[in-house]
Amino acid sequence: MSLKEKINTSKLPQHIAIIMDGNGRWAKQHGEERIFGHENGVKSVRETVETAAEIGIKYLTLYAFSTENWNRPQEEVIALMQLLVYTINAETETLNKNSIRLEAIGDLSSLPEDCYNELQEAIENTKTNSRMTLVLALSYSSRWEIVNAVKKIAQKIENKTLTSSEINEDTISQHLCTSKIPDPELMIRTSGEHRISNFLLWQLAYSELYFTDKFWPDFGKEDLYQAILDYQNRERRFGKTSEQLV
Ligand code: IPE
Ligand code: IPE
Ligand code: MG
Repeated sequence: MSLKEKINTSKLPQHIAIIMDGNGRWAKQHGEERIFGHENGVKSVRETVETAAEIGIKYLTLYAFSTENWNRPQEEVIALMQLLVYTINAETETLNKNSIRLEAIGDLSSLPEDCYNELQEAIENTKTNSRMTLVLALSYSSRWEIVNAVKKIAQKIENKTLTSSEINEDTISQHLCTSKIPDPELMIRTSGEHRISNFLLWQLAYSELYFTDKFWPDFGKEDLYQAILDYQNRERRFGKTSEQLV
């Protein structure tokens, strides 16, 4: 039985989030510059997006560039932004063919203008697609997002459209960039690092975490199946006891 056949399609996570890590080390392993790793990471993005849509995942969030990544050497940042523009442009047709809607979260206004425009165009051109939503986290960090949410909530209190006693968990969720997206049930990180790196801190509160040693450019179909199977074999108790679940 193949890994794919073992997946229980009635117990799929609705939303999978991925920290695509290890491009630089993959390139080094191949005796190449870091950007070669990023270029090869695009193949994994394509394969993961298509596989996720094909098996029926509804939301896939990919951490593509963090707020902290702006601190990388300028030439790497520029190369990454160019790759992003090129990829978004080249992939829009495939997204439409597969009925995948593109969304983005993060401080998009800090992106270079061509990148921002390309992104908005792709979002606009795919907005009626309904099979899966692909969310790119770009210039994203969770603390930035939470600070923003707090500011927006404070503003409403100043305007007297909200009182502090009305604030609950939903108030916070509704003011995050992900207000229209359900929390991920499964978070995958590649490259052997076991950390969150400022990704979806609020939304991952009860997600199952899956780590693989593979570098992102080596991540493919079978690895995604493996992660989903691992997820399906876990008991999600949400604070209850095992006995209470049956
Ligand atoms: C992930 O790979 C891609 C981005 C953060 C943009 P890295 O570039 O972090 O690769 P490593 O972790 O240095 O190997
Ligand atoms: C996290 O990877 C960000 C992305 C994958 C876009 P990093 O490589 O930037 O994270 P750290 O520095 O190892 O925590
Ligand atoms: Mg890294």
